[in-house]
Amino acid sequence: MIIEPRMRGFICLTSHPDGCAQNVKNQIEYVKSKGAIAGGKKVLVIGASTGFGLASRISSAFGSDAATIGVFFEKPPTEGRTASPGWYNSAAFEKEAKQAGLYAKSVNCDAFSDEVKRQTLDLIKADLGQVDLIIYSLASPVRLDPKTGVLHRSVLKPIGDTFTNKTVDFHSGKVSEVSIEPSNGDDIENTVKVMGGEDWEMWIDALKAENLLAPGATTVAYSYIGPSLTEAVYRKGTIGRAKDHLEATAFTITDSLASIGGKAYVSVNKALVTQASSAIPVIPLYISLLYKIMKEEGIHEGCIEQIQRLYSERLYTGKEVAVDDKGRIRIDDWEMRPEVQEKVAKLWLEATTENIPEISDLEGYRSDFHNLFGFGFEGVDYKAEANEMVNVESIA
Ligand code: NAI
Repeated sequence: MIIEPRMRGFICLTSHPDGCAQNVKNQIEYVKSKGAIAGGKKVLVIGASTGFGLASRISSAFGSDAATIGVFFEKPPTEGRTASPGWYNSAAFEKEAKQAGLYAKSVNCDAFSDEVKRQTLDLIKADLGQVDLIIYSLASPVRLDPKTGVLHRSVLKPIGDTFTNKTVDFHSGKVSEVSIEPSNGDDIENTVKVMGGEDWEMWIDALKAENLLAPGATTVAYSYIGPSLTEAVYRKGTIGRAKDHLEATAFTITDSLASIGGKAYVSVNKALVTQASSAIPVIPLYISLLYKIMKEEGIHEGCIEQIQRLYSERLYTGKEVAVDDKGRIRIDDWEMRPEVQEKVAKLWLEATTENIPEISDLEGYRSDFHNLFGFGFEGVDYKAEANEMVNVESIA
């Protein structure tokens, strides 16, 4: 079929298998161009199909020659209907890994469930014996608690007061004011349940209980802080409470790994266009201004550059891992440079529908958004027939 983008708000209903494969290849080439990383060799990535998790899987495999098991929740294709992009990314990743002689298997289902943990543990036991790096990179709007059977929904709301600020519709370029009502009822608890550290800890406990963690195993989950411009809706909002919980969980896990000399870290990453971040109001405007400044300064990075740098300049340097006063790895350091933030804050005040094409990198935002779904890649003939029925080899 000929596959074209069909955008609906902050999602795209179609994705392009060849474009997704090109995206994966480009990331692999980047990692290879940066040279070997003395990182984990048997790696489990939870949330491995898109965004930071995919970049982590690629960095481990093609930077450290690692065997990888990827867990994700993606929609396979049916005749005439494309898969979700993470499916095609994973299909392409496994193909490239196989060609490079690297072990790669995937588990496609709800990572919050006991069944998927069981399935993954069995796979590790049978094929790898133990894992030495576990990346936790889930971004999900819902979580079914396997213990209670309760379905929790996370919300992206401020806490206390209504938050009113500028936002941009990144498709039309219209800048407008948005008001977001504060959280109420169980909103905070539910968001912490979904995006906090409870499930991360459950994964590590389950791995440890069955002796599947190698001595000195490391686990890393991803967090975000961002500037004062977005803090009402992000860091001081419901999602921020979940990130507080995730960050606190790193200490609990580190304590529980003392007997094997293991360590849990949270890495604070840069704001980037992913399926998760494009759903958060206000963030697209911030990201398009940030991209403009960071590109001008020559310090822009995407997910793959971020994770390659996280591995090579933070986690696997042979020295002690550098952390901030709250114990977090900071790979958002370039985003948070005062001169970058001052420029973004100034542009934020000036931003209107009329000037947004010049003062922001909305084009870059849009292009990244299209890329998430496999559209807009050089070297892909989008007018040609594409085969939507692509398998992920280890799942098919
Ligand atoms: P993403 O939407 O690109 O990736 C989410 C991944 O989670 C996908 O692999 C998806 O299949 C998987 N997933 C979702 N629900 C699942 C489930 N129930 N079972 C199994 N897999 C499931 O998201 P992104 O942006 O890469 O986020 C990953 C982490 O990075 C999140 O913790 C996010 O808060 C954090 N982060 C994101 C930033 C951003 O600007 N995008 C900045 C800093 C941190």
